[in-house]
Amino acid sequence: MSFYSCIAGMRCAKCQKEEPVQYGQTTCECGGPLMVQYDLERAKSQVTVSDLIHRTQTIWRYHELLPILQVDHVVSLHEPMTPLIAVPEYGRKIGLPSLLVKDEGVLPSGTFKARGAAVGMSKVKEMGLKHVAIATNGNAGAAWALYGARAGVAVTVATPTNAPITARKECVISGADLFTLDGTIGDAGVLMERMSQQNDWYHVSTLHEPYRLEGKKTMGYEIAEQFGWSVPDVLAFPTGGGIGIIAIYKALAEMREMGWIGDKLPRIALIQSSGCAPLVRAFEKGVKSSAGWEDADTIAFGMRVPNPSGDFLILDIVEQSGGIAIAVDDSDIMETRRQVAELEGLHVCPEGAAALEGVRQLRESGWIRAEERVLVMNTGSGLKYIDQIEGAGQLVEPSTMKLSVGR
Ligand SMILES: Cc1ncc(COP(=O)(O)O)c(C=O)c1O
Ligand SMILES: [Zn+2]
Repeated sequence: MSFYSCIAGMRCAKCQKEEPVQYGQTTCECGGPLMVQYDLERAKSQVTVSDLIHRTQTIWRYHELLPILQVDHVVSLHEPMTPLIAVPEYGRKIGLPSLLVKDEGVLPSGTFKARGAAVGMSKVKEMGLKHVAIATNGNAGAAWALYGARAGVAVTVATPTNAPITARKECVISGADLFTLDGTIGDAGVLMERMSQQNDWYHVSTLHEPYRLEGKKTMGYEIAEQFGWSVPDVLAFPTGGGIGIIAIYKALAEMREMGWIGDKLPRIALIQSSGCAPLVRAFEKGVKSSAGWEDADTIAFGMRVPNPSGDFLILDIVEQSGGIAIAVDDSDIMETRRQVAELEGLHVCPEGAAALEGVRQLRESGWIRAEERVLVMNTGSGLKYIDQIEGAGQLVEPSTMKLSVGR
């Protein structure tokens, strides 16, 4: 018998306790995040890497390794496999001519958050839940608001008041209830938890429920497939809550167990902004707890997470992979964003620019060698942060226009 999903249970990433899949599951009783487990033997017998060639080029091609039980519960706005884009001019400039960027800006609402929202919202629909709440720095809220509208599920979003305006407007246009508060994403999380408990909503903030991460995991499957069932030597990810990295590594571990890829895993380059770098500081100190960051401030808003709750998982992965964590300055982020747009025609988001700048510095320091295969995740479109670009063209006087017409 063939199953749409090979989901088999849950395991707590903190205390390792296993439990069955249950309705409306959030976290383990110890407070740790639950990770979805699959029957990988069954998945392996149901789909091979060569079968995948014939499937639609969307995240749903990996449905056996996703938690949705039935295809008609899928909530989709078309989530394409995102392209690997060569950036040879910029690459040559920084000493990595074959540098590649995976461009998540082509996903619905323009960021990789669509992956988590598509799978998370599909599971919400499958469980018959009617209302979700999410704390966000903007992009995840926008994605959940849009997918909520698609699914007919109500969405309440809380975000810091200075979160990017585009993402907030996306919440408004899709009919979500949007609260803004003078505080951090952590404060927004406290508000969403309280309101969820009072109103019996499903709280889907970072690591509060197990399914968002599964959607983001498709980044890892795509990377391996696009690299011919192998992996890059170095993978640079702009990191805030760290779910991107945890999810990619979960995918790689599953694929390794199924024999889809070999034992080699990429070294993770975890990039943060020097205005909010709790994970970098912990990495430098050699500890696994990030201990918070005072007065967090960066233009790369998706990375403004002063207290990432999955710190112990992220820092473990960076260490196990032989990786590194570094922080880059906002001024360098903006300069890189401009250079990549000018040299390559690729308008990356500030988070993606941070990852590119991190790779430049790591090449300069020799941590990345010239011959290595390096992949940078551009987690969103530069259009989501268009207000950060100064200048809007030169005014032409009507008299000059007449002259240029040449009469
Ligand atoms: C564009 C963008 N890049 C990167 C991140 C950070 O991702 P993660 O929280 O998975 O580390 C975010 C999170 O909001 C984001 O919106
Ligand atoms: Zn636990």
